Amino acid sequence: SPVPVIAIDGPSGSGKGTIAHRIAARFGFHVLDSGALYRLLGAAAQRHAVAFDNEAALEVLAAHLDVQFIGDDDGEARILLEGEDVTNAIRTEEAGRAASQVAALPRVRNALLARQQAFRDTPGLVADGRDMGTVVFPDAELKIFLTASAQARAERRYRQLLEKGFDASLAALVEDIQARDARDTQRSVAPLKPADDALVLDSTDLGIEAVVQRVIDAARSVP
Ligand code: C5P
Repeated sequence: SPVPVIAIDGPSGSGKGTIAHRIAARFGFHVLDSGALYRLLGAAAQRHAVAFDNEAALEVLAAHLDVQFIGDDDGEARILLEGEDVTNAIRTEEAGRAASQVAALPRVRNALLARQQAFRDTPGLVADGRDMGTVVFPDAELKIFLTASAQARAERRYRQLLEKGFDASLAALVEDIQARDARDTQRSVAPLKPADDALVLDSTDLGIEAVVQRVIDAARSVP
């Protein structure tokens, strides 16, 4: 039987990344942070002076993207782009905006498809993104769609940024999250939406532990 995949999709700031790492640790699975790939491509485009709407050039860049994920399964991963540590650089709101622009291009998404699927390795994978359950791993054993109100997500992102020592404005983050949601849900290719067979969890009023427990319960009840 194929290597099991737990797909966790949802909008930015819904807590997917944290949840994905907790679930992976619990089951000893690998993690795919697919958003990081789009962020890395945005960073590579900036580095090589490729415009975010130059689909042909971005497709080539995506196909040759030189990235390394180091120590991926402990939540302390370092991410290298062309040998340079960009772990923190790709977490800024600016990098998120760049990611969502290049991610809207069909040929870019297609160029990153096989690379994402290659993360599927024994004993299993927890894949975090927007289209894990709908496009990249349509045969995933378990599909979770994690949501939360824009306000709640902005507040979480705000705290995260401050903890990491970044400067942030809550009002700007709410606007940013709403704009990114609109771009991600309205784009024609792989729009953000729950798979038909996804379990939808709203984390607005649920703590991380409660969400993790629900996902684990759901995973255990998969035949
Ligand atoms: O999850 P994260 O915020 O790091 O993703 C950054 C951006 O990359 C998202 O706003 C989205 O536009 C894009 N993305 C995507 N498909 C994925 C993961 C991320 O389009 N599977």
